[in-house]
Amino acid sequence: MSDRSAFGAAAAREAAAAIRARVGDFRPVAAIVLGSGLGGLAARIHAPTVVPYGEIPGFPRATVAGHAGELLAGTLAGRPVLALAGRFHMYEGHEAALAAFPARVVHALGAPVLILSNAAGGIRASLAPGSLMLIEDHLNLMFRNPLVGRVEPGDERFPDMSDPYDPVLRALARSVADARGIALESGVYAALSGPSYETPAEVRMLGRLGADAVGMSTVPEVLVARAIGLRVLGVSCVTNPGAGLSETPITHAEVIETTARAAARFEALVEGVVAAL
Ligand code: HPA
Repeated sequence: MSDRSAFGAAAAREAAAAIRARVGDFRPVAAIVLGSGLGGLAARIHAPTVVPYGEIPGFPRATVAGHAGELLAGTLAGRPVLALAGRFHMYEGHEAALAAFPARVVHALGAPVLILSNAAGGIRASLAPGSLMLIEDHLNLMFRNPLVGRVEPGDERFPDMSDPYDPVLRALARSVADARGIALESGVYAALSGPSYETPAEVRMLGRLGADAVGMSTVPEVLVARAIGLRVLGVSCVTNPGAGLSETPITHAEVIETTARAAARFEALVEGVVAAL
């Protein structure tokens, strides 16, 4: 395990400098983290410069099926954006500060908005597989926080978390969904470390705790984003009923198949949001 400062503000500036050497004077309106199976949005990015993670100091190569492991800089709906196809999960053995490191890097590149996406299991009965859910709030059940340790220069020591998912961006996503006829649920995302999926008892517990969906990512990035002043929008793609809520076991293949079904709606939603930024 490396020291947390390996993924702090100075490391982020170094990573940003390496990316800037490839992309030049590029001023993104947003950075988009593409969750499991949601990498298809990358194909909608016009004239991208593609930077493999192996060329970014501090970035390991993404290792999970469904994650490409590259950063793209190009335009979406005519607006300059960064897209991260691949993320670093705590279940891969990465510490929380690395899971959140891309948030620091895109901030160092000037992105004011971070759009986070993920695949998640549905807990609330109305969240059928294929549903898109705007994240209203979260439960951090990873029991890790990337902000533990020395305060990085520019970080808020005690970030306010009373509204971590930017209300203006949520309203924007809602109006884009309405205008484009995209069904958009909303709810609370519970993050667990994984990699095993939950037991039925855990899913029942999560429901009682107020979770609508459950996944294994996103929260580390949100915590760092709030400490550095990045505005966050979060969208979950519900890929399966939570454990015990259906007869069938949960497989990663099913997760990827269901994201493929939701991809066109997810991409139209993000494109509409970016167009309005
Ligand atoms: N649980 C946790 N993470 C997930 C799930 C799930 O059921 N589906 C997709 N990611």
